Amino acid sequence: MQPDQVIRLKQWFESYTRSFMTGEGPIDSPLELKIGHTARVCDNICHLGRSIELTDGQLCLAETIGLFHDLGRFEQYRRYRTFNDRQSTNHAAVGIDVLNQTAVLDTLPADEKATIIDAIRFHNAPRLPANRPPAALLFMRLIRDADKLDIWKVFADCYRYRQRPEPAIVQHLTDLPTWDQKIVKAISEKRTASFQDMKSLNDFKLLQLSWVFGLYYAETAVQAKKRGDLAAIARSLPDHPILRRAIGVITGHLDEAVSADRTRTTVCQQVIGG
Ligand SMILES: [Fe+2]
Repeated sequence: MQPDQVIRLKQWFESYTRSFMTGEGPIDSPLELKIGHTARVCDNICHLGRSIELTDGQLCLAETIGLFHDLGRFEQYRRYRTFNDRQSTNHAAVGIDVLNQTAVLDTLPADEKATIIDAIRFHNAPRLPANRPPAALLFMRLIRDADKLDIWKVFADCYRYRQRPEPAIVQHLTDLPTWDQKIVKAISEKRTASFQDMKSLNDFKLLQLSWVFGLYYAETAVQAKKRGDLAAIARSLPDHPILRRAIGVITGHLDEAVSADRTRTTVCQQVIGG
């Protein structure tokens, strides 16, 4: 891909997303957040891509995946007024439908279009498919890490400035002084917690913290630590020995991933070579 193709796609994205704005603040505000999220995910994916020495063409492909990974959010919100996939529809699938119906990617070579579509399809899946070539997996991994970095930032900012997150974005979970044992157990076993176990806002925070166990790139861990977003989310949880222990497991894992930086970067470069 070439930079001028990315510019054209960004222009298309801007006019497409603008068409969803109603002029009513409370309705448009969650969409504005998604537009900001998209721009930062584009920056994140390019940063991660450069950390593993992608070529300029691969970086353009990565940026396009960042640009379109949440495209389905706009149609999802228009239809259902929520970003909760379980209560509405899979936004990744909606985004792919939009890309196919509008044919906006049809000027790209078929293999590049397929890579973009595949990375979007699996960006929110519980796990990646086993039957994809390493080159395709690379982009799937990049978008998942780039997305997580910004999701952490969005929520950390809310808690830093003591703002309540948009109800549509926290899946309408209530701010109860409780947490789910299954989520705490997953963290103690260094596993990513399950969406279906969330019952309160604290569970939502813990689940997001547990994403550290599913990171692919060392640079993602480096950025997560440097930006302090995980620490800000952790600070917003109740001060309780059970949660302090869980946060300790998360912090320890992040520190290990950061100190293993050099080794993991080498592994990533081997994946590109494959
Ligand atoms: Fe998404």
